[in-house]
Amino acid sequence: MPGSLVAQLDQVATPPAFDGLPGFLGTRGSLMLDLVFLAMFAIVPALLLSIYLVRFRQRYQLHKTLQLTLGSVLLLAVAAFEIDMRLFTDWEQRAAPSPYYSAEGWSVVWIALVVHLCFAIPTTLLWIYVIVQALRKFPRVPAPGPHSLAHVVWAWLATVGMLMTAVTGWGFYWLAFVA
Ligand code: HEM
Repeated sequence: MPGSLVAQLDQVATPPAFDGLPGFLGTRGSLMLDLVFLAMFAIVPALLLSIYLVRFRQRYQLHKTLQLTLGSVLLLAVAAFEIDMRLFTDWEQRAAPSPYYSAEGWSVVWIALVVHLCFAIPTTLLWIYVIVQALRKFPRVPAPGPHSLAHVVWAWLATVGMLMTAVTGWGFYWLAFVA
């Protein structure tokens, strides 16, 4: 069947639409963009569960384990994401078909990215600070003590920062890679 052979050859010869590894959500997102987008849907409920456990169930050790796990997962995700964005994925190429993106000057997509980074960068620093201070100042088997007040204040800020990072990240993803 020469027709179908031509079609097959055409498929093989057609280069992928974008540089980098393709994602799996059926959008224009790359593999890492899709992974981080999806991971936040697991991280946010896990964070809320951890806070519920410490606040209403006094499960201090479980809260510590959960927070250290979340911190490690987030650190790994940020590192992998940064490597991918700097070396492999041209996000602007993937955002180009969006009606909210423009290659020249400011666009809604760029504004959404800046808003997202305004939460993501301070929140990363805040998480490091909250975790380091908690490890230093709570006993090894964690329990309320002199560090409680400072922890509750900074940790709530870190929590709100993470929620805003997730929401603004989802918004940016939709504007750039779905619309
Ligand atoms: C970025 C990481 C963390 C976040 C976002 C976080 C979040 C929170 C929040 C929001 C509360 C207050 C809950 C309330 O309103 O009563 C809390 C309490 C607490 N957290 Fe964390 N936490 C983190 C890491 C840790 C770590 C690593 C430890 C242990 C080493 C820890 C130990 C505690 C303890 C003992 C309390 C109870 C304080 C008290 O009520 O006196 N947290 N945490």
